[in-house]
Amino acid sequence: MGLASDTPRLTCEKLQRQSCCASVDEDCEAVLRTIPSGLDRKEAELYSQLDPTQFPKHIAIIMDGNGRWAKRRHLPRVAGHRKGVEAVRLVVETAARINLPALTLYAFSAENFVRRPATEIHFLMKLLHRYLKNELPLMHRNNIRLQFIGRSQMLPQEVQERMAWAKEQTSHNTGMVLTLALNYGSRSEIVDAFKAMVHAAANNGGLEHLLKMDEETVNRHMYTSHLPELDLVIRTSGEMRLSNFLLWQAAYAEIYVTKLFWPDFNGFHLLESIQEFQKRERRYGGLNEPSPGSSN
Ligand code: FPP
Repeated sequence: MGLASDTPRLTCEKLQRQSCCASVDEDCEAVLRTIPSGLDRKEAELYSQLDPTQFPKHIAIIMDGNGRWAKRRHLPRVAGHRKGVEAVRLVVETAARINLPALTLYAFSAENFVRRPATEIHFLMKLLHRYLKNELPLMHRNNIRLQFIGRSQMLPQEVQERMAWAKEQTSHNTGMVLTLALNYGSRSEIVDAFKAMVHAAANNGGLEHLLKMDEETVNRHMYTSHLPELDLVIRTSGEMRLSNFLLWQAAYAEIYVTKLFWPDFNGFHLLESIQEFQKRERRYGGLNEPSPGSSN
């Protein structure tokens, strides 16, 4: 499918000049109708160039480069994390405004948890604890439902309680599902899924049950069973790795790497990654039209 060539280009010069509403002609009105409210001028301009029929349903982001962002400014690493929270806010809000069904953020890997100095982990936990309370109005304003993946039972008790509280508080929202990966590792997720399947089999006829397992069964036992198929993985700060993030789920996802450090990433850059996604030809192992899961 050649997405870029047949993308409808809804352009509006008046919009670009920020005077769209002064005298509204028909084309301009059409553009305004399709652009979600709340986007800034640059975001709206870029959004108007996207193909509304080819939006990803699920984007996941490896937020990398907080430390380097801070180092470049001769600041402590934690300043990068603090600024990283602002980037999270901008990206989450833009994602919700464009009605992205699911956004998953790699906040702390299981490896981060054991390999970072205790002082940095302590700071990150405090940041998360505060984030989950402070961002609640933004979650409600944007109709966002919060979820978590990862071995959260190993996080500090007060963080686990705040997570449960935030999840409950947003459970009635019906818009974008924002999933935070905390103490997450893809290999341990796969181990946990297999353990859960063995348990289910033990209660349901043993080996016979286990032997009926297929991809759908594994999907249902992954932490991400509540989410649509992963379409796009974004990684900031230039590294070309998945770093133990959503390895099973990323089987057919497009990967977009930007050199920007996470604290410099914002809603406009999210839309740029979607624009790039729409240029890719997704074949799922076939020759042309996609059909995820139909062939292995
Ligand atoms: C990677 O940068 C980032 C992290 C390990 C933490 C991500 C955390 C945030 C963006 C802020 C907190 C998020 C929430 C949702 C509260 P790095 O430290 O590995 O950077 P480096 O590779 O340049 O050292």
